[in-house]
Amino acid sequence: MPERVIDLRSDTVTRPTPAMRQAMAEAEVGDDVYGEDPSVQRLEARAAELLGKPAALFVPTGTMANQIALLCHTRPGDEVLHGEDNHCVLYEAGAGAAWAGVQFRPVGRGGLFTAAELEAALRPADVHYPPASLVALENTHNRAGGRVFPQADVQAIAELAHRRGLRVHLDGARIWNAAVATGRSPAELADPVDSVSACFSKGLGAPVGSVLAGSLELRTRAHRFRKMLGGGMRQAGVLCAAASHALEHHQARLAEDHANAQRLARGLARLAGLSCEPAAVETNIVCFDVQAGEAAGLVARARAHGVRLNAIGPRRLRAVTHLDVTAADIDEALQRLGALADQGQAPPT
Ligand SMILES: Cc1ncc(COP(=O)(O)O)c(C=O)c1O
Repeated sequence: MPERVIDLRSDTVTRPTPAMRQAMAEAEVGDDVYGEDPSVQRLEARAAELLGKPAALFVPTGTMANQIALLCHTRPGDEVLHGEDNHCVLYEAGAGAAWAGVQFRPVGRGGLFTAAELEAALRPADVHYPPASLVALENTHNRAGGRVFPQADVQAIAELAHRRGLRVHLDGARIWNAAVATGRSPAELADPVDSVSACFSKGLGAPVGSVLAGSLELRTRAHRFRKMLGGGMRQAGVLCAAASHALEHHQARLAEDHANAQRLARGLARLAGLSCEPAAVETNIVCFDVQAGEAAGLVARARAHGVRLNAIGPRRLRAVTHLDVTAADIDEALQRLGALADQGQAPPT
């Protein structure tokens, strides 16, 4: 096993930088359940400003931010319309059904969809149908391979939803990546929607934390739900100091992750036995396929050679670039994967 492991499983595997740890060590803190932690208050104010909303609430995870949004916008039995393979549906352990009691219905194909597709999916009021009260969007879309939701579609979807009395929640776990990729501010991207969740623990490199941003009324309701879910934290300023540091120092550098993802995709496209489309890579997530055999086989062999990847389908793999991988690491990862191909191990036989 090579000494240096290049971990491309997710942008969540980063470790806090020394400067981030310093900021955490020096954080001014208080008991946030009493509303007395200045570092939490500073982060929430800054996040609300960046996301262009009146208020934001700090929560431990993106999952909790999304689940609180569902609780705020819906009633049990309501229908939530969403793009295929939405994180709330696929990866949140059935929480939407358990806590908010909603049922989900996918719209369009591949995660992104248009207002016309939403319009076709909306059903008239009828005693047979669950009332649709929320549209859930994801930008960038994780399962779609970090794709950016076209802003014209977000705008048109939100206008239609609002006209028909539905609210719109945006899972913006990686809204920072979408902003860097499009040159639009996070506030502009979130402008059409009623609530937006955003993570600090992904591309921004903080160890913990997300926010849910929206109106003051939404924050009041969300605050209560956070407490009900056990997310009221005490000296959370230690965590918010890391998030504030990340917002200040790690937003613009996401462009490096996107360039590294392109570098990786171009390299993978050249390797025998793999299929990868660099043109489909818009941000920091690279999806690719093994042409024969199983993705899990390649994951295991790559791991033995110090490259960590995730299998996301029988033949599909995912690699994610982040703060802790450099362009040189990408080249090294490609070399190790190429050596597997040379040894006839990729594609797995
Ligand atoms: C799009 C998206 N939303 C939400 C989450 C959930 O975040 P957390 O792991 O902090 O609960 C993730 C995690 O990867 C994600 O990719």
